[in-house]
Amino acid sequence: IKRVRTRHFQNAKANGIKITGLTSYDQLSATIFDEAGIDFLLVGDSAGNTVFGYDTTLPVTIDELIPLTRAVAGAVKRALVVADMPFGSYETGADEALHTAFRFMKETGAHAVKLEGGVRSAEQIRRIVSAGIPVMAHIGYTPQSEHGLGGHVIQGRGEGAEALLADAHAVEDAGAFAVVLEMVPSAVAAQITSELTIPTISVGAGPSTDGQLLVWTDWAGFSGGRIPKFVKQYADLRGVLGDAAKAYIADIASGSFPAPEHEYDA
Ligand code: KIV
Ligand code: NA
Repeated sequence: IKRVRTRHFQNAKANGIKITGLTSYDQLSATIFDEAGIDFLLVGDSAGNTVFGYDTTLPVTIDELIPLTRAVAGAVKRALVVADMPFGSYETGADEALHTAFRFMKETGAHAVKLEGGVRSAEQIRRIVSAGIPVMAHIGYTPQSEHGLGGHVIQGRGEGAEALLADAHAVEDAGAFAVVLEMVPSAVAAQITSELTIPTISVGAGPSTDGQLLVWTDWAGFSGGRIPKFVKQYADLRGVLGDAAKAYIADIASGSFPAPEHEYDA
């Protein structure tokens, strides 16, 4: 199997082939998604919510993400693995950003890094790219700035479209190989997609982008609580596992598990 590399992202955009992505935080899901043919796996700092149970991504550390990223990178044969740089690991400047990117690349086997921010992160992107590390940018709604943005708010509406376009061009000029657009009106995402030469990846940015990405636990119906409007649920893992646990409890109570086929002879 041929590994997905950044040039495949470029080729996909040139040929109108859609790029597919999911998050992953462990080797089990990574293996399944890789074998199914998902093009890239993001070890997102959404692990703060999905794995560690925090309310936001803000507390997530590099040291928490490294073992998860190593598990995913070690599991895949084809997919490109993107390591998400957590809040507080790149904002102070290009040196800090490159230092963090080095940690992920050296300690996990990831193939690229992702960080949030457009114009404000351009110097960081430029420095990381100059060291030979591919960068996926992330603009629009950026969860690490939840408090600065005033909550879970759609970005790029009305007057905001101009600033979003500036962010998109800034990350392309800085050398990002792709850009995630999160919670952006479809028409604005379409305009960005047509103006940029690098592929755009939608997370709640409509169908006109060059690719799509979802948090896998939302996509698979594994997460509890409120699921964003832009997510389509492709399975009901929460229901399946809940039913399995109830059946297990009932079988143990009734004595029907373990059955003879589960027992060892003397
Ligand atoms: O951490 C994450 O899962 C993300 C995406 C959903 C864009 O950053
Ligand atoms: Na993230």
